[in-house]
Amino acid sequence: MSNYSLTVRVRRWAKYLINTIDERIHGLDFSMVYVGDLQRSQAEIHGYSMTDAGDMKRILQAIPVKASESAFLDIGCGKGMCMKCTAELGYRKVAGLDLDEHLLGIARTNMRKLQLDVDCISASAVEFDRYQDYDVFYFYNPFGAATFQQVINRLIESQRQRGRNIWVAYYHPVFGQLFEDAGFQLKKVVHDITRDTVTKIYCYPLSVSNPLR
Ligand SMILES: C[S@@+](CC[C@H](N)C(=O)[O-])C[C@H]1O[C@@H](n2cnc3c(N)ncnc32)[C@H](O)[C@@H]1O
Repeated sequence: MSNYSLTVRVRRWAKYLINTIDERIHGLDFSMVYVGDLQRSQAEIHGYSMTDAGDMKRILQAIPVKASESAFLDIGCGKGMCMKCTAELGYRKVAGLDLDEHLLGIARTNMRKLQLDVDCISASAVEFDRYQDYDVFYFYNPFGAATFQQVINRLIESQRQRGRNIWVAYYHPVFGQLFEDAGFQLKKVVHDITRDTVTKIYCYPLSVSNPLR
C-alpha cells in the first residue's frame, strides 16, 4: 500500500469520503473498512475493504459471459458492493459468501434496503459445497495462499459436478500464479483507476477431453 502515488491516495480518500456521506444519507454501509477479531487473530483471513463500484462495473464488463444466463459468486463478499453491481447488471443469480457474521449482517441490510434479490451466505470458502451452481467467481484478495490453493482445488472439482467454463475475476491478484499453475488461462487484465492495481480475468475452460462436455 505504501507505494501508492500521492495522486492515487488523494483520489482514493476523496472517493471514500463522498461514498461514505452518500451512504449515510441513504442508510447504507459499504465503504467503511473493517477488521474484526476473526481477521485480527488469523493471518490467513484478510480484513474488509470494498471494491469501488466503478471499477467493479468495468471488471464485470470485461468478463465475456451473458449476464442473464450466468450465476455470480463473490468469495469473501463483505458488505456486498460487488453483489450490488452484479445484480444491477442483470445476472441470472447473484450470491456472496463470507465467514464474518458482522459483515454478512451489514450486507443483508444493504441488500434489503436496495431491494436486491441476492443470497448472502454464511460459509467458509474452503467448506462451501455449492461451487457447481456458479459460473463467475470474484475475489478481492480475501485470504492467504494456503486457503487460496484449497479454494482453487474446489473450483476445479466443481467442474466435474457441472461442466462449464469457469470464469474468475481476481482483483489485486497477489497470488495469481496459483491460478496459472492450476491450469486457469489468463484472458484479460483490467486496470482500475481507484487503487492503481489490476484485476486478472481467468478462465478454466470446459476442456475437449472433459467427459461432462
Ligand atoms: C477485501 S474484503 C472484499 C469484500 C468484497 N468482495 C468487495 O470487494 O467489496 C475480503 C473479505 O473476505 C472475507 N474472508 C476472508 N477469508 C474468508 C474465508 N476463508 N471464507 C469466506 N470469506 C472470507 C473477509 O471476511 C472479508 O470480508
